[in-house]
Amino acid sequence: MRVLVIGSGAREHALCWKLAASPLLTSLCCVPGNPGIAAVATCLPGRVDDIAGLVALARREAIDLVVPGPEGPLVAGIVDAMEEAGIRCFGPSAAAARLEGSKSFTKEICAAAGIPTAAWRSFTDAPSARAYLATLPSPPVVKADGLAAGKGVVVAATHEEAEVAITEFLEVGRLGAAGRALVLEERLTGEEVSLFALCDGEHAIAFGAAQDHKAVGEGDTGPNTGGMGAYSPPPVLTAALEEAAMQRIVRPALAEMARRGTPFRGILFAGLMLTAEGPKLIEFNVRFGDPECEALMLRLRSDLLAALLAAMDGELPSFDVRWSKEAAMTVVMAARGYPARPASGGVIGGLEAAGAIAGAHVFHASTATRDGVLVAQGGRVLAISAAAATLAEAARAAYAAVDKVVWADGFCRRDIGWRALGGVPT
Ligand code: AMP
Ligand code: GLY
Repeated sequence: MRVLVIGSGAREHALCWKLAASPLLTSLCCVPGNPGIAAVATCLPGRVDDIAGLVALARREAIDLVVPGPEGPLVAGIVDAMEEAGIRCFGPSAAAARLEGSKSFTKEICAAAGIPTAAWRSFTDAPSARAYLATLPSPPVVKADGLAAGKGVVVAATHEEAEVAITEFLEVGRLGAAGRALVLEERLTGEEVSLFALCDGEHAIAFGAAQDHKAVGEGDTGPNTGGMGAYSPPPVLTAALEEAAMQRIVRPALAEMARRGTPFRGILFAGLMLTAEGPKLIEFNVRFGDPECEALMLRLRSDLLAALLAAMDGELPSFDVRWSKEAAMTVVMAARGYPARPASGGVIGGLEAAGAIAGAHVFHASTATRDGVLVAQGGRVLAISAAAATLAEAARAAYAAVDKVVWADGFCRRDIGWRALGGVPT
C-alpha cells in the first residue's frame, strides 16, 4: 500500500516512523516532511493548505491512502477533495471537522447530546459579551470561535482580562476571521487529559491517552504553547474514568454527528478536564495531538496502518489495539524566544548520541538542512522521546537524550511529568 502523510512536524515524524514499520506498507511519502522524516519516508515539496496541489500529487504518486496530520487541511476539506478524486483519505470530512473548526458548533453538539462540558455562551458583538461578563461571578475563559493556532484561548484571571480579550477578538480583530465570534465559558478545575478515540463514523475505540504541558515555563507558568512535553499513559486517567469519558463524551458526540448526516471518521481527540463531578469536555480536536502523538506511537504495539484501515472500513469493533506496558515521555526542545519570537537558524548537533540512549527516539518538529548542516527553523524544533518500564525511567532516558543535543538556542522544560512523578525529574 502506498501511503502519503501530510505535515512537517514531530507528530508527522512519529506517524511516519510507525507507518514505516507496517507490513502492509510498500511506499511512504510525506509532504512536505522534514529532515528527520526523510530517514523513513520520501519527502516531496508541497504546501499542507494547497488541497488541489495535494490531490494532484496523490494522483501522480498513485497513493492508496492519505493521512493528514494537522487540522488545517481537514477543516479545509482535504478528505472530501481526495474522495472526490477516488483517493482514500484518513480523517473527517469538512462537515465533521467542524468539531475542531468551530468551538460554538462543538458546544451545540454537546448540548444536543448531553455531553458534560463547561457552561458557555457564544457572542458576535462586544457589548452583548460585556453585558454577559458583568453577570458572571468569576472570570470566564474567552475563546475565539475558529482555528487560531493555539492563540485563541484566554484563561482570564480577572474580569478586566476577559474584557480585554473580548475587545481584542471582536473589536480590534486581532485573530481575523477566527475571532469574529467567541465563546465565554466557565473555568473548570482539575487535571487535563488528552484522550484519543479511533472512530469509523459509528463505532469508537479508545486509542491511547496522554497528558501534555501547554505552558512554556516550568511549574506550568507563562504563555500557552502548542505543548512543551507529554507523557503516556496518564496515571490520573483510571480505566473507569476512561470508560466514563468514552460513554458520556466520545460516543454521544459520534452518535449526534451520525444523526446529523455528518458521521465522524478519524481520530477524535477529546481534551478532558477531570473535575470533581467526573470528566468534562474542554474541546474536541479532529487529529492526533502534538506532542501527545510522539509518546503514543512509542507505546503502540498494533500496526498503525491496519488500525487506520479498520476505521476506514468500519471494522473497528473487531480490531484489537495493543499497547506496550511501558510508559513514554516526550520533551519538546524549542528555540529561544518561543512562543513569542523564536530564534531561527541555529546549528543542531548531537542527535545521533541522543538517539543512542536506550529507549530514546528523536523526532524532528521544525528542522531544515542548510549546506548539509541541520539547523532549527524556529518554534518547537525537536521532540525528544523515550519509553521505559516506568515513567520515572522514561523521564530519565528522555532527559539523558536531551542532554546529548548540542544546540545553543535550544531550551526545554526540565519538569515534564511533574504531576505524575511527584516532583522535578532528576
Ligand atoms: P483549548 O484550545 O480549548 O484546548 O484551550 C487551551 C487551553 O486552555 C486548554 O488546554 C486548557 O488548559 C485551557 N482551558 C480551555 N478551556 C478551559 C476551561 N473551561 N476551564 C479551564 N481551562 C480551560
Ligand atoms: N498538544 C495539544 C494539541 O495538539 O492540540
